[in-house]
Amino acid sequence: MKKQITVAGLAALMALSLAGCGTNNGGGTTPPPTTDTSTSTDTATSSTGYNLQVKDVNGDGIITVGFAQVGAESGWRTANTQSYKDYFVEANGFKLVFADANQDPDKQKQDVRDLIAQGVEVIDLAPVTDSGWEPVLQEAKDAGIPVVISDRQLSVSDDLYLTYFGGDMYAEGQRVTDFLKTYMASNNITTANIVHLQGTIGSTAQIGRSKALTEAAAANNWNIVYEQTGEFTQAKGQEVMESFLQQNKDFNIIYSENDDMTYGAIAALQAAGKDPKSYVIVSFDGNKSAVQMVVDGTIKAIGQCNPLLGPQVGDLIKKSMNGEAIPKITYSQEVLIDSTNAAEQLKTAFGS
Ligand code: AHR
Repeated sequence: MKKQITVAGLAALMALSLAGCGTNNGGGTTPPPTTDTSTSTDTATSSTGYNLQVKDVNGDGIITVGFAQVGAESGWRTANTQSYKDYFVEANGFKLVFADANQDPDKQKQDVRDLIAQGVEVIDLAPVTDSGWEPVLQEAKDAGIPVVISDRQLSVSDDLYLTYFGGDMYAEGQRVTDFLKTYMASNNITTANIVHLQGTIGSTAQIGRSKALTEAAAANNWNIVYEQTGEFTQAKGQEVMESFLQQNKDFNIIYSENDDMTYGAIAALQAAGKDPKSYVIVSFDGNKSAVQMVVDGTIKAIGQCNPLLGPQVGDLIKKSMNGEAIPKITYSQEVLIDSTNAAEQLKTAFGS
């Protein structure tokens, strides 16, 4: 049975299952909290045709988790990796086998195949990009190894994986575009000329955040004057911003799909003698330094994305081991960070 789990495809499922669902900080539709976890929000979608359960196959009392990680491109990623390394330790009943794809989708597919060959007991896949995963996931399923998708969703049949845990990237984007709309109205900004720095093309983090901007731009007559990927890195964010600035085009807003590219864009503005505070800069993630920049007024808002997924993924794995039903999709609880809550959010922000 083929069922897409991209954000667009989720809308109908969520509408069916979420009577009384709310919106979060004026953003997109988000499901209501239905569990007692402090950092996650569950959708009540059920598993279809997937009957694998995490098991201690070799009976050593330790579950070996193969983690197919994206890379080390950002502060978010560093915090995400650390969260797994801290949690999946023997004291918690786990052993972590870590595979770094270095942002290469082909390498990552080979990484997963290597984890299957090693006979890990469960695989956690944080996919670099969305496409081409069916054969690999089928191989894991055939080998009897459950797969947890984390961080970025995949548009594959939901009978190819156990569960998804991570951000709702489209909702994050909607929180930011809603902020932009409100900010423009309250500051009498009548024209939006937007520089759009995109993340890794084809990652669902990019797809969801870009979709929110494209839709809001069409609905509000905003102009996207430049659109280029900065691949979620500071260096590339700076490079593409520098190349835009050389074109001498008008712009007043920067929509940057992660904090690292935002830091790069700010450096490019400063190098060109421009004051970043005179632009409306919006970002994603919520690293400590970026939240501090919201406090200072350099960044106007951040669509928060929580990287500290290790313990929650661990809970889902334990539930699967106990034979408990687990949701097909669990979204991290995330908020919009702006001048109204940045000082508070700074106290718990991740990274540096
Ligand atoms: O998938 C999450 C995204 O990946 C984060 O926004 C970005 O910083 C990271 O590289």
